[in-house]
Amino acid sequence: MSKNQVQIFDTTLRDGEQVPGCKLNTEQKIIIAERLDELGVDIIEAGFPISSPGDFKSVVEISKIVKHATVCGLTRANTKDIDAAAQALKYAVKPRIHTGIGTSESHIKYKFNSTPERIIERAKDAVKYAKTYVEDVEFYAEDAGRTNNEYLARICEEVIKAGATVLNIPDTTGYCLPEEYGAKMKYLRENVKGIENVILSCHCHNDLGLATANSIAGVQNGARQIECTINGIGERAGNTALEEVVMILKQHPYLNLDTNINTKMLYSTSQLVKHHMGLVVQPNKAVIGENAFAHSSGIHQDGVIKNRGTYEIMNPEDVGVNESSIVLTARSGRAALAYRAKNLGYALTKIQLDIVYPEFLKFADKKKEIIDKDIHKIIEFCKILTDKVAS
Ligand code: KIV
Ligand code: ZN
Repeated sequence: MSKNQVQIFDTTLRDGEQVPGCKLNTEQKIIIAERLDELGVDIIEAGFPISSPGDFKSVVEISKIVKHATVCGLTRANTKDIDAAAQALKYAVKPRIHTGIGTSESHIKYKFNSTPERIIERAKDAVKYAKTYVEDVEFYAEDAGRTNNEYLARICEEVIKAGATVLNIPDTTGYCLPEEYGAKMKYLRENVKGIENVILSCHCHNDLGLATANSIAGVQNGARQIECTINGIGERAGNTALEEVVMILKQHPYLNLDTNINTKMLYSTSQLVKHHMGLVVQPNKAVIGENAFAHSSGIHQDGVIKNRGTYEIMNPEDVGVNESSIVLTARSGRAALAYRAKNLGYALTKIQLDIVYPEFLKFADKKKEIIDKDIHKIIEFCKILTDKVAS
């Protein structure tokens, strides 16, 4: 892997599937895993095998069919979980066990009723045990976002010695600011012995709407893996959206960071996940929302028709959307109406447009959006008038 390559770790089927009411069956998970593999994700987190027989089975079946990506199973820091994950991953060409434990003061005190020293011991033991099954072991320090940096560095150093290959630094509660999260990565890079031999991973939640910004701050400060989900789905406000981080890296080449994602498959993959999860995608969702390339105000439409770059910073075709759309509403101008009419075969002259446009506005004031059928109707209604003008 080159120094500038950011690994994309997709957790749609694990963290993403923790959305209430969005349970997928094994067949659906296989369909999504196949698509993620084609999309070019580097790691697919297929599930949490000990959590239920269904999840175990899904990880087994996904391990059998995935051709390129590493397949990963989540565990807590105990031998039973790790045994189950190792069993479930036995058919994977490239298996990874993802084990870990809460490291923040509140997790240590309230979740585990334990001490920082005992938590370090459990973390080391879990990594060593996972290592008896697979070479690739990722360690997560749950709630790392709210964990004191010195303690986090100590635990990271210990799990590296125990054999961890990837260190996941989750902002589990979505609390960090981008500067803070980036500084955490920088601190770890500068203060953990052996850090140059492992990959640092960003795992950010979106409780304050900062998951994407935090993940980008993480890679700007040396992390080389981003954990994310399609459409940003996940517990509470969700996880980092895969399509967002991938397009940010693509659209900002000066960052000099690449991914293996075939961006032209982003929109269709988003639709596939939306369909199987039964979760609506907000229309204004960045990159893949229905309105992401739609222009409806007159000033913007005029600009886009003249040159797309005036109001678009990425090419819709790059994410698999055929073209930008010019949406007709009461805020639209003549240029937009002429453009849409032309696509339907009406080359309106300036005089004809002067007649049709006021009729269009009357219609548009009564309706949220003017669709092709309405344009035909309006032009047909005005034809008598345009004929009169022409004669
Ligand atoms: O958000 C989190 O901390 C997690 C870990 C279990 C990796 O999802
Ligand atoms: Zn998470």
